[in-house]
Parts: sequence; C-alpha cells; structure tokens
Amino acid sequence: MGSRFDEMRVFSGNGNLDLARAVCHRLGMPLGDATVTKFSNENIFVKLNESVREKDVFVIQSLSFPLSDRIMELLIMLDACKRASAGRVTAVIPYYAYGRTDKRDQPRVPITSRLLADMIQVAGAQQVLTVDLHAGQIQGFFSIPVDELTAMNILVRYFRDKHWDDAIVVSPDVGFAKRARNFAESLGVPLAIAEKRRVQNLTQKDGQLSKPEMLNLIGDVRGKRCIIVDDEIATGGSILEVVQLLESQGAREIYACCVHAVFAADAVQRLKTSPICEVVTTDTLPIPLESRWDGLTILSVSTLLAEVIQRIHSGVSVDILFQQRGYTSLG
Ligand code: R5P
Repeated sequence: MGSRFDEMRVFSGNGNLDLARAVCHRLGMPLGDATVTKFSNENIFVKLNESVREKDVFVIQSLSFPLSDRIMELLIMLDACKRASAGRVTAVIPYYAYGRTDKRDQPRVPITSRLLADMIQVAGAQQVLTVDLHAGQIQGFFSIPVDELTAMNILVRYFRDKHWDDAIVVSPDVGFAKRARNFAESLGVPLAIAEKRRVQNLTQKDGQLSKPEMLNLIGDVRGKRCIIVDDEIATGGSILEVVQLLESQGAREIYACCVHAVFAADAVQRLKTSPICEVVTTDTLPIPLESRWDGLTILSVSTLLAEVIQRIHSGVSVDILFQQRGYTSLG
C-alpha cells in the first residue's frame, strides 16, 4: 500500500540520539536537521532546519534524564512541527515516563501519566508510537491512536539462544505475573512469582510505625538458572530484594532483564556489585559508557522501531508484523 504522504522525516530531541540515529540508519535516511538546545535562562529552543510542510513527521524522544527537560523538548518539537504545517506528526516515545503515576491510589494525588498524555496531544501529536508502557491502560489516556510495541520478544530471543534446560522465569511481583508468564511461555520454561506480603505487626522504623513487608516465593527455584523479568529497573531495589530471596531459596545462577534501563540513583553500582550474573536490557533509554559494565548486555530496539515507522508511513498494518514475527502479546 502507498503512503498518503509523499515524504517522511524523522527528527529527534536529546532523549536518545544514538537510538534515533540507529533507527534512521535502518530506514536508510538521514536524521532530520533540527536544533534542540537550552538557553542560559533554562528556556528550551527548537528549530527545524528543514521544511516539514505536508510531510509525514516522526519525532523520536525517549523520556530520559533530565526528565522535565526531555518532556519540554518533546512538547516544543511537536509544537514546532504543527506550526510548520506538517502533514501528520507521530510522537515516537521509546520510554514513556510517569507510567507509575497512573491512578489515584491515595487521597489528593494527580494522575500525571494522563496529564502527560494530554500535553502531548495539545502540543500537536496526532498519533503515538511507544514501547512497553508500564501499564497498558495508559494507551487509553490518549484520544489519538497509540501503537504500543513490546520489546519483550527481543529479550526472549536472547535467552532462548542460550539453550538452557534448567531455566525458570521469575516475576518480581504479582502485578507483573501475566507478562512474566507470557515471557516464560515464549521461552518454554516454568514461572515463579515473588509476592510481597504486609505483615500484621507494626514495628518502629525511622521513628515511625510501619508495617514490615515479607517476600514470599511461589515456585521452586532450587538449582535453577533464574531469569528475573521486569518492564523497568529504576533504583534496582525491587530486583535486588528478589535476588536475595532467590539466593536464600537455593537458586543456581541469577539473571535479570528489563526493557527500560532507567538506572536511577546508584542503581548501576548496586547491580554491578550484586550476585546477578548478567543484566540484559534494551536501548529504549540511553546508557552512558560510564554506566556500562561487563555484566550488562544491551539489545537494540532500533530495527523494531524502524520497521513499524516504515509501516505506519506506508499505511500497512502493524498487527501483521507482530503475527509474522511471532511477537508475544502485551497482555
Ligand atoms: C514496578 O511496578 C515496576 O515494574 C518495576 O518493578 C519498578 O519500576 C522498579 O523500580 P526499582 O528498580 O526502583 O525497584
């Protein structure tokens, strides 16, 4: 099928320039020429240095650190595209931040994930392409089309190539169990689930009364190679708690994988010095050289994004790509 737009252009903010360049390389086109900079008064300035009039424009921006700057860059770039009469504007957001603020689970808290969706639409996005949202319902925060891809199968393929016959997938919490089950099924190995339980007795902690948590494991990991899978690693706290539990239950070796390497605070140091043999992740977020170590493997989502961008541009079904490649479902 042909595109309703003669030409396509791909631009990038500073959220993950290496990934944007890799996507353009796969698409066989140069990255669009744009200036995205910050003045000394902290105002962000954007200028598209080439015409986008009536073109099919993709703005790639991963919501990396510094987060507020990255969000503003995206919004300003979308506004620039809209005001320059782009034919259609797609926001490509490999990592969508604020995914954990998706419900009012305490009094007087915002739903920031929804607010961000509103801002992206007001700024000028006509559709969104993203990868493994923290919660699928975030798609519904947008009233424009959202294509959510999963990079889980890229991780599955990596572990499948190891041909382990003693592996088990571990979900770090009950909330992720369904996606972890899909992951385990794709690998053809069993699943274990770590479950956090509130203990009834109140204890004194940091001068405050708190309910201690206890981690239980559903499943038998003794003598097994454990692959903990999660959508993101931020501080590494959740994963490392599970690692301790797996060690105490006689796991043979422990591996961890996630789609989004947020690596906040001292996560890198904590992961590097942990008993985890290997951390496998993707390049939805930039990982600076100084944050890499021998036990870190980074797989690229650039081919997946490029193929889907090409399909969106050409008006070809993205669903078919999933079926052809046997990508696991997001469910
Ligand atoms: C939580 O619901 C997520 O799936 C991750 O487990 C969480 O974002 C990881 O955060 P951290 O690494 O700070 O424990």
